Formats: sequence, C-alpha cells, structure tokens
Amino acid sequence: MATLTTTIRPPSPPTGFIGGHIMAMRRDPLAFLVNAARDYGDVVFVKVPTFQFYLLSNPTDIERVLVSDHRYFIKGKLVQQQLSFIGNGLLTSEGEFWKRQRRLIQPAFHRARIAAYGQQMVDATARMLDTWQAGQSLDIHAEMMALTLDIVSQALFSADVKGEAQTVGKAIHATLEFFASRRALLPIPERWPTPRNRRNRQATVTLDQVVYRIIAARQGDRTDRGDLLSMLLAAQDDDGSHMTDRQLRDEVMTLFLAGHETTASALSWALYLVARHPEVAARLRNEAQTVLAGRSPTVDDLPNLRYTEMVINETLRLYPPAWRIGREAVQDCEFGGYRIPAGSVIGIAPYVVQRDPRWFAQPDRFDPARWEDGLLKRIPKYAYFPFGGGPRICIGNQFAMMEAVLVLAMVAQSFSLKLVSEQPIKPWPSVTLRPSTGGVMMLVS
Ligand code: HEM
Repeated sequence: MATLTTTIRPPSPPTGFIGGHIMAMRRDPLAFLVNAARDYGDVVFVKVPTFQFYLLSNPTDIERVLVSDHRYFIKGKLVQQQLSFIGNGLLTSEGEFWKRQRRLIQPAFHRARIAAYGQQMVDATARMLDTWQAGQSLDIHAEMMALTLDIVSQALFSADVKGEAQTVGKAIHATLEFFASRRALLPIPERWPTPRNRRNRQATVTLDQVVYRIIAARQGDRTDRGDLLSMLLAAQDDDGSHMTDRQLRDEVMTLFLAGHETTASALSWALYLVARHPEVAARLRNEAQTVLAGRSPTVDDLPNLRYTEMVINETLRLYPPAWRIGREAVQDCEFGGYRIPAGSVIGIAPYVVQRDPRWFAQPDRFDPARWEDGLLKRIPKYAYFPFGGGPRICIGNQFAMMEAVLVLAMVAQSFSLKLVSEQPIKPWPSVTLRPSTGGVMMLVS
C-alpha cells in the first residue's frame, strides 16, 4: 500500500446524546448510511461504541479494498462474530486455510457443473408451480425460501429437505432477528436466557440437526455422487487426513445458508417489484411466452431471457441481499485524503453505492430497462457489485443468477401475481436484506 500522507479523520454526521450513531443505526441503518454518504461524502466516520467504523462509497476505493489491496483488508473479528453460527466456513475463514477450501469447493461451481444444475432448478420450480392454484393467496417469500432450499440441497448435497423447509425457514428467521438485535447500544449478553437468545440457540440446534443429518447420510454410504458433498468427504490433506466433522459441518452450513437465503430474498423482491409495476410484468410475461412458447426452459434459453435478467439485475441493485460487506484494516491506510487506523472496520454497502445518483439516474426508481445498451460498461466497475468482488467474490454468483432467471421466467410464464396489500414493504436489514413483514402475501391468477 502507498505511504500515508495525512492524519485527517474523515467527516461524520452529528451524533446523538449518547452512543454516537448507534441509535440512528439501530432505528434505520439503510437511511442512515445512504444519507451519511450523500451528505458527508465517499469516506465517512461512523461513531459506534465498540469499534472504529468507516463507510467507503467511492467505487475506486471499493476496488482497492476488495481487489487490488485485498490482502490488507481481512474479514476480521466483526464478520466472524456476526456470522458465528456458520462457524469457520468459506464465508468467514481467512488466509491459507480459506484459499485451500476455496480451491477445493470451486470446481462445484465451474460453468459446466452449473449448467447441469439448471435442469434441477427447472424441475424443482415446476414442482412448486404445480401446487399453485389461481385464486389462492400465498406467502411468496416462504415459497421462494422453500424452493431455493430444495434446489441448493439437491444440487450440492443430493439431499431432499423439502419436508424441513418450514422448520429451516423459522430457524433462519430467529437467527436473523437475533443478529439484528445486536445493533443495540448495550446488547443483552448472549448467555442470558431471554426469549430471543433462547430462540437463537434453538435455531442453531435445529440447523445443526439438518446439516449433520445431510452429512451423516453420506458418511455411511461413501458412493461418489459427483456432487460437492462427495468432494468434501473425499478431500484429503497432504498428510492424508480428512476434514473433521466440525469442518464439514461449517462448510455445508455455509453453502446451505448462503446458497438459498440470498437468492430467495432476491426472488421475493423481484416478484414484489414486478407486481408493483404492471408494465414490467407485461414485458416479462411476453418475453417468457415468446422465448419458451409454453415449454419449460433449459439453460440454452438463458441468452434469450434478456429482459428477465435485467429485472434481476435491477432488483439486485435496489435490494442487494448482501446489503453491506465488512472488512477489517490490518494496517493504517488512507482513502480520499483521510487516514483510517489499523484495526478499523471498513463498511462497503452495495445498498448505498447502487443508489448513488452519480451512477444511476433516478436511483430509487425500479427501471429494468436501464440495463439495456451496456450500462454496466459505462459505470465504474464497483458502482454495481451485488456479488462483491476480488478473491472473495461470491462463489455462487453464476449459480444464483441462473437460478433467479429460470425461476422468474417460469413464474411469469404461468401466473400473474398481485400484492394482497398495497402497503409498500420495507427492507429489513439483518445479515441479509429481507422483506420487513417477514412474508410477502400475493394473490395468484
Ligand atoms: C442473489 C444471490 C446471492 C448474493 C446477492 C450473494 C452475495 C454474496 C456476496 C456479496 C459475497 C461476498 C461477501 C464478502 O466479500 O464479504 C458472497 C460470498 C459468498 N457466497 Fe454468495 N450470494 C448469493 C448467492 C449465493 C449462492 C447461490 C451460493 C452458493 C450456492 C453462495 C455462496 C457464497 C459463499 C460460499 C461465499 C463466500 C465466498 C468466499 O469468501 O470465498 N452465494 N455472496
């Protein structure tokens, strides 16, 4: 990294009476961060009692953190604490250990493998749509959670967890609620037996049971199914040792959760936005009906489902499921002429940058057509980054995009969805960005 030339601390919004910005962050973190970047610039100091926190919103600075200077910005203690329930898996591990695990897991996400998952995605979606009936009201978020859970469990672990979708969904909700509550000025210690702490502990037990069952079913029968779980079970260290049960659990849990919750939220937001924009719904349906002509899609249809892809891109711009990415600076650094000390937490928020009017005209407007004519090439690379970037870029990026486009096209081809309530749904920023009501009720026709 370049030598430091400044000692100036970045600007900061006025603080509350006690606790710096923690109360404002707790009330509405999305509005607080968007306003902080708009009013105070690309480098903002956010005062929270427990650590030094800096929000970076300039695409050039973001590229430095994620790509060119990535070795100076680790995931760090905060990310590991926030994601402690997934343990030391691919999302949270660091250094040589992370590199080895990424190399091991990467082949499951190579282009040819992903194409093979396409048929599983289509079959699972067809099964879900078979259960839908015109005139019925459905919680679309619950449907998308169950569907993406079914898809990721089959594709990566050859496991059938359809019967457990509700239990898993409830456990994830309890965990996210718990983590959202940690933003309080004085968070209640995790060990205290409060109802929320108890629900969180029970949720971890429930998720552990599901994940250990998936692993145990295959440890008994070591037949190579050619899936990710077979690769994890077969992996050996230089000394011939296999992964421990705990390590297997952490990797499976990571992919199990990261591999479905985010895509389910993206699809729920997409269906919500489409239902609120009839002109988008009409164009989407028209594309699905023209390209597919009544049949199920295959991966070969993907290049022709361009508008569907634009709807997903625009949804990920406005409601990025990974709404913020955290890093810890391992040494003093400088951004935009300001000094950031070693040990600080660096916050990078796709939610903030992707709503910046410098890169997106009328940034709060849902307008999938903005992606026509090569918008991506005209804006800086890290003005739009729903999957992160650099070596820690989302391993499931192509998997998620393919899944989202196939599912959305199949829904649009078969049904029209209307929101049961006109009331706008607010995003709920926990670890991911979900619909705040917990559910998204829609009428199927
Ligand atoms: C719309 C859906 C998705 C979004 C928006 C998303 C977003 C992200 C982002 C932003 C990161 C980087 C986090 C960071 O740099 O700190 C990430 C990492 C990761 N994602 Fe995703 N993701 C999605 C779907 C998936 C899927 C389908 C899978 C697996 C099947 C997956 C597995 C992972 C894993 C394992 C990592 C950690 C990678 C590493 O550090 O090596 N994600 N994701």
